[in-house]
Amino acid sequence: MVTIQKAGPNHIDGIAWVCTASYWSTYADLLSTEYIERMIKEFYIPERLLKEVTKTSKSWNGWIVAVENGEVIGAGVGGMISENHGELFVLYTDPGRRKEGLGSMILDAVTKELIEYGAKEQWVNVTKGNQKGIPFYEAKGFQFIHEQDEYGIIEGENFKALRYHRFLL
Ligand SMILES: CC(C)(COP(=O)(O)OP(=O)(O)OC[C@H]1O[C@@H](n2cnc3c(N)ncnc32)[C@H](O)[C@@H]1OP(=O)(O)O)[C@@H](O)C(=O)NCCC(=O)NCCS
Repeated sequence: MVTIQKAGPNHIDGIAWVCTASYWSTYADLLSTEYIERMIKEFYIPERLLKEVTKTSKSWNGWIVAVENGEVIGAGVGGMISENHGELFVLYTDPGRRKEGLGSMILDAVTKELIEYGAKEQWVNVTKGNQKGIPFYEAKGFQFIHEQDEYGIIEGENFKALRYHRFLL
């Protein structure tokens, strides 16, 4: 049975595993090895994740995980970026468990929290060309708004992210 729950310190290794595995499987053809390794080292290390599951706030609601038999098989997190606007910062499932509804369940849980914080609109960034992510967001009613530089690029890197938006009921 899959449960959707707020993550605690016992889920840190699982979040790191799911995000790292999904990161490689999603971006290997879209981004450089250097960029992917740099991002994984920045985001998916135990010290950072420990803070991210213990210190939650309006602007960082804390990780939500999908757990099956004690294993993390999906993870996501959101937060408020202004009075009425929330953002989905991250959403990944185990690469072998896509299209089973896990992403929908995690997105719903993140969105429910954002609505409780007052969100009327929601944003997400997707890497340009990410066909493992864009159709999901479009199926959820997100619409493309504009293109911008990918997060954390350095000189010589020209990766782009697409900003998507939807209204929340
Ligand atoms: C994006 C992701 C989190 C979605 O989670 P998921 O569990 O696979 O999605 P769901 O099973 O809940 O799918 C919900 C709907 O989106 C559709 N969908 C999901 N991924 C799709 C894809 N790659 N292509 C076409 N449709 C897709 C499903 O068919 C389903 O449609 P339906 O409601 O009409 O049946 C997951 O596929 C993933 O980790 N992808 C790779 C990483 C990634 O791109 N993350 C987003 C980074 S911003």
